Amino acid sequence: MSTELTTLVREKYGEAALRAGTGSRASCCGSDANCGADPITTGLYSAEQMADVPALALAASLGCGNPTALVSLAPGDVVLDLGSGGGIDVLLSARRVGPTGYAYGVDMTDEMLSLARQNQAAAGITNAEFLKGTIDAIPLPDASVDVVISNCVINLAGDKRAVLREAFRVLRPGGRFAITDVVTRGDLPTAVRESLPLWTGCVAGALDEMAFTALLREVGFTSPSLESVREYTAEDARAILADGGLDADTMAPMVEGHVFSAFVRATKPAVA
Ligand SMILES: C[S@@+](CC[C@H](N)C(=O)[O-])C[C@H]1O[C@@H](n2cnc3c(N)ncnc32)[C@H](O)[C@@H]1O
Repeated sequence: MSTELTTLVREKYGEAALRAGTGSRASCCGSDANCGADPITTGLYSAEQMADVPALALAASLGCGNPTALVSLAPGDVVLDLGSGGGIDVLLSARRVGPTGYAYGVDMTDEMLSLARQNQAAAGITNAEFLKGTIDAIPLPDASVDVVISNCVINLAGDKRAVLREAFRVLRPGGRFAITDVVTRGDLPTAVRESLPLWTGCVAGALDEMAFTALLREVGFTSPSLESVREYTAEDARAILADGGLDADTMAPMVEGHVFSAFVRATKPAVA
């Protein structure tokens, strides 16, 4: 990613972490204007999961799906969350894998790391750790992880191939890639693809569904699959476009049906 985009992403999510730290609902995959009613980030976690994490972790949740509800995790598994933000999916995973398992989060934004560590302490979770780093250069050894999760982050990366290659590297043979992200279907208007607010808002940089599974195969994964978990309506498309400062009336019909959240899965072959 260009340095400018990385800086913008870091600034946006740093501010979101600070806002969440005061107890306000952060908004990121989506706009500040839509705070609290963001079509992408709202209503992702069950009441049971919400009760299992500190309120600040929930306030800081900026995902577009719920990978921890969709992937099967077993006691003893080592889980890695790419772009862990305020830590919600790491904390939920740590509980699921139990004391013999471990959950790592990687994030590049200092404010998010500090919020996640605060949430971890509040939750009393000891089998987890938040690492500073970028997801295209993951600070973990080869073949050290059973499951890679991520929630609305890969779209923000400039070099998606590098991110998927790194996910493949850190997974053990037989390990699973199981993430949620915003994905596109067919062409999006150039103005949307080129909008910086819509890049940091998780839409402009989203991979096309076919390109996503092709890239997974290219870096070595087998059985890639992608299923929609939330389709955005015309009204959602209008809210998303308004966040990007674009003419919602003209563009909503060109965006509706082309943007959705997906659960994306793939496996690292058991034998190389
Ligand atoms: C939309 S938020 C999602 C946070 C979290 N996954 C969640 O569901 O609440 C994106 C997060 O990814 C982090 N991030 C974005 N690009 C990154 C990169 N290239 N490397 C590491 N972290 C990144 C941001 O700092 C931010 O915390």
